[in-house]
Amino acid sequence: AAQLKGRDLLALVDYTPEEIQYLIDFAIELKAKQEAGEVYHPLKGKTLGMIFEKSSTRTRVSFEVGMYQLGGHALFLSRNDLQIGRGEPIWDTGQVMSRYLDGIMIRTFGHKNVIDIARAATIPVINGLTDLSHPCQALADYQTIQEKKGPLKGLKIAYIGDGNNMAHSLMMGAAKLGMHIAVATPEGYEPDQEVTELSIEHAALNGGKVTLTHNPKEAVADADVIYTDVWASMGFEEEQAAREKAFADFQVDESLTELAKPDYLFMHCLPAHRGEEVSEGVIDGDNSVIYDQAENRLHAQKAILAALMG
Ligand code: CP
Ligand code: NVA
Repeated sequence: AAQLKGRDLLALVDYTPEEIQYLIDFAIELKAKQEAGEVYHPLKGKTLGMIFEKSSTRTRVSFEVGMYQLGGHALFLSRNDLQIGRGEPIWDTGQVMSRYLDGIMIRTFGHKNVIDIARAATIPVINGLTDLSHPCQALADYQTIQEKKGPLKGLKIAYIGDGNNMAHSLMMGAAKLGMHIAVATPEGYEPDQEVTELSIEHAALNGGKVTLTHNPKEAVADADVIYTDVWASMGFEEEQAAREKAFADFQVDESLTELAKPDYLFMHCLPAHRGEEVSEGVIDGDNSVIYDQAENRLHAQKAILAALMG
């Protein structure tokens, strides 16, 4: 854990399997502490700045509550109210913010914005979602899977839908943790090539497997977890109609989940569109753990905050 102090969390590729497993186990420990009513204030007197260029329910609330529970404070900073919205360079923003704050969480469009602010800042920077990745969500998700299924190594995840930020972070996480992830997307919506190649490389090192297909049935066969996400992510709303057509055969419904293990978990990072990427019966059914995932954002991010900023 000592080697996480002062680090950024921009993408899971930068973390070793041991570091990722440490954060998951630490999240579970912090969850137990919170449930027992134990006070734990390693971030007393520290402040996190949270820059949001996109909407958020879970990320905003869980980071803010997480900082409070750790004895610190969080500032919500919307792009429109910051001078970056009027063209102040990201370099100056990162430098100046480092003089006030102890950490920055940023949700933005291009992944390069996160890399640039991390370069400018002298304090830890945490990626709260970019078009390329969503590492905090993937950490909370792997925590959830471990809580429900035990040790992660060897488990199979089927990711069905868009080859987006969620797909990327789940792929890299699975690769690092020695899991098998099968990603089924329509043609033209495959995950990023560089992320795919890197995750295949890491999977090989860690005894995992990353496979891509255009056939959801093949991906779901024998899966322990079925994961899906919206067809049009934030920033891609104008493609909604075209995507509804392209993804028509990729809804996670009862006929698909039947092919997974009977005790499979259904997962979705939320927000969800019932009747599009997932049927109502599946997302609201007995196998669904969507609210546990959402809750674990709080615990996983507390682990991240305490490890990086403590
Ligand atoms: N899953 C997730 O990141 O949700 P928000 O967009 O509400 O933060
Ligand atoms: N892929 C979705 C995830 C939202 C948490 C998006 O980027 O909009």
